Amino acid sequence: MTTNSVKSERVRIFDTTLRDGEQSPGAAMTFEEKVVVAEFLDVMGVDIIEAGFPISSPGDFEAVSEIAKRVKNATVCGLSRAGFKDIDRAGEAVKAAKRPRIHTFISTSPVHMKHKLNMGANAVLDAVGVSVAHARNLVDDVQWSAEDATRTEHDFLCRCVELAIRSGATTINIPDTVGYATPQEFYDLIRMLFERVPNIDKAVIATHCHNDLGLSVANSLAGVLAGARQVECTINGIGERAGNAALEEIVMALKVRKDIMPFTTGINTTMLSKASKLVSNVTGFPVQYNKAIVGKNAFSHESGIHQDGMLKNVETYEIMRPEEVGVKETSLVLGKLSGRHAFRDKLAQLGYELADAAFEDAFRRFKALADKKKSVFDEDIVALVDDEIVRAQDLIMVKSLRVMTGVGIPPSAEMTLTIEGEDKTAEVTGDGAVDAIFNAIRELYPHTVALQLYQVNAVTEGSDAQANVSVRLEEDGRTVTGRGADTDTLVASAYAYVNALNKLLVKRKKQVPETLNVAR
Ligand code: KIV
Ligand code: ZN
Repeated sequence: MTTNSVKSERVRIFDTTLRDGEQSPGAAMTFEEKVVVAEFLDVMGVDIIEAGFPISSPGDFEAVSEIAKRVKNATVCGLSRAGFKDIDRAGEAVKAAKRPRIHTFISTSPVHMKHKLNMGANAVLDAVGVSVAHARNLVDDVQWSAEDATRTEHDFLCRCVELAIRSGATTINIPDTVGYATPQEFYDLIRMLFERVPNIDKAVIATHCHNDLGLSVANSLAGVLAGARQVECTINGIGERAGNAALEEIVMALKVRKDIMPFTTGINTTMLSKASKLVSNVTGFPVQYNKAIVGKNAFSHESGIHQDGMLKNVETYEIMRPEEVGVKETSLVLGKLSGRHAFRDKLAQLGYELADAAFEDAFRRFKALADKKKSVFDEDIVALVDDEIVRAQDLIMVKSLRVMTGVGIPPSAEMTLTIEGEDKTAEVTGDGAVDAIFNAIRELYPHTVALQLYQVNAVTEGSDAQANVSVRLEEDGRTVTGRGADTDTLVASAYAYVNALNKLLVKRKKQVPETLNVAR
């Protein structure tokens, strides 16, 4: 493989965490969470934010519209299939954006055309021209994707790409939809398009690689070396099945290996670690400990030989500094004697600005935490404040909880919930302490949902560490993930379940009876 001769050195980062990422089972985000993530991505320097698939649900439409209004710098993109109704809905959703983009796609591989679309090659070709031209009537920035491009016949792919550009597409995306390609193959495919499509220089070529064989990042980088100048990716690599190429890995590979890949991105890499935590928190998808760039162990050196080398010179075992991706030395925060001023300073350092009432609440909880826990770390403060933000608008709140459990006695929970201002109490048993708590919630606020996930992570080390609990609930195809943090795992569990329930209530209210049968 050799570096290409394309002049532009800038690679655009197209983030699809809110669209392809959100398609992973269980990764559903609420409206508010999507807006927070989009604003974060914008500040971090993402070039294009794919905010959703507007026709797929009223909720997706609303979220894309709101993100279009809020985002200051990035292009905001909405996905659509090739039909006019889809395209119009996407155009409507992104119209308030400073830089709106419609992304329309259709499958081009024989297997998809036959079994998924039931369309012949000529009909698909027609749809490419007509859909792109229609989108181009609505916005100036149109992206066209050849779904399953890596399993498409080359002649046909070239004809589709040429027609899409002629019809007005400004970006052409070449997805490895099923994660089947290898880096050399993907490089050759992009080169082939550069060599054979006569008007290829009129559009930006993009990569969109799935990770079924664990090759998505390698394939995306191969695409860049072959001339692609837009990479589609997601934070933490979340997405359909094994996910998409991970944004943080693409960006850091380009930064660290500039010697052989002389390209730049607009990403402020010091925000990567926080982006990863944010997406992990809102989706409830944990980041594996040894995940490149953002895993908990990505910068830990455990073996004696490595530690010795690091003490002599960090370059012995470190190819990038943790600070470059926003990982700081864990610092001891404040003690129980610390005052409001020091607490506000610490919040500012961690990137939080809270209104007066929220600040007072957070400060009260910090004091309570400092009473219970010997050492309060930055991570504890982050968990505490995030928890505060997450639960700020809840209609149902945990007022008190007493749990009895042990050997030889049936676990039981006595709980009081404040439900829309009114206190209700119940005492209920269960198979275990957590089961008893969840039964108590169901007794106090009757509902039928499927518990899809219950997960506990320690925020820091030690037996007095705070527990961060995630609970995912499913009702009629709607999933929500709730979170709760506390030094007591059982209390955190109650907070997390109740938080998920609150999100479900919001989703229920937003549900419009019409269901759109959209194949994603
Ligand atoms: O993987 C894929 O092909 C997609 C398209 C919609 C771009 O996500
Ligand atoms: Zn995809």
